[in-house]
Amino acid sequence: MESARPVRYSQTTITELMIPSYANFGGKIHGGTLLSLMDKVAYATASKHAGTYCVTVSVDKVEFLQPVEVGELVSMHASVNYVGRTSLVVGIRVESQNVKTSTLKHTNSSFFTMVAKGDDDKPAVVPELILENREDIKRFIEAMRMKEIKDTVREQMDDAKSHIEVTNAGEILKGQRCKIQLV
Ligand SMILES: CC(C)(COP(=O)(O)OP(=O)(O)OC[C@H]1O[C@@H](n2cnc3c(N)ncnc32)[C@H](O)[C@@H]1OP(=O)(O)O)[C@@H](O)C(=O)NCCC(=O)NCCS
Repeated sequence: MESARPVRYSQTTITELMIPSYANFGGKIHGGTLLSLMDKVAYATASKHAGTYCVTVSVDKVEFLQPVEVGELVSMHASVNYVGRTSLVVGIRVESQNVKTSTLKHTNSSFFTMVAKGDDDKPAVVPELILENREDIKRFIEAMRMKEIKDTVREQMDDAKSHIEVTNAGEILKGQRCKIQLV
């Protein structure tokens, strides 16, 4: 394994033309199509850095801010923002370009956590990340903080799930858009 690699070593951009078969009934591009492309670029970026096969463990902050139209060119710019021992966080900025008008819209920025796998299919230690500029440093610290928040939220969600009491559900669900009709 390499001891350390700079962010630029694995930075990857993929561009794809949005063809009619990618569209939903409303004529806009399926969110799932974009997610699939994001997963591919996350894999390419993570495996270049790790030098091994990688798997997707979790996906954060997927919010489609603007619709993507058929005929637009979608580009996904991905970099390794953070590395742990065996995991990596890949940040992906998605932009869609209308070639006729030359307008460029930022449709979303998301974060894919990937884990490197060794030949034995077990998590493998990844090379350290060399931060060469202020942006690299900012993104690494941001990812560290997001990881801390996620760990806390995950614990709170597990705790919340284990303490759900349905006996007073009528009170808890007051004002919610559901009806209790037990059968
Ligand atoms: C990801 C996976 C390897 C973790 O295995 P594990 O036995 O829990 O391994 P570990 O506990 O050693 O965790 C490995 C790393 O994953 C990270 N991790 C585990 N679960 C995580 C989660 N839910 N979110 C973020 N990171 C996670 C750990 O923090 C650790 O990172 P680090 O080494 O940088 O500290 C395993 O769950 C797996 O193979 N999942 C299936 C992945 C897959 O098939 N993806 C494609 C689905 S379409």
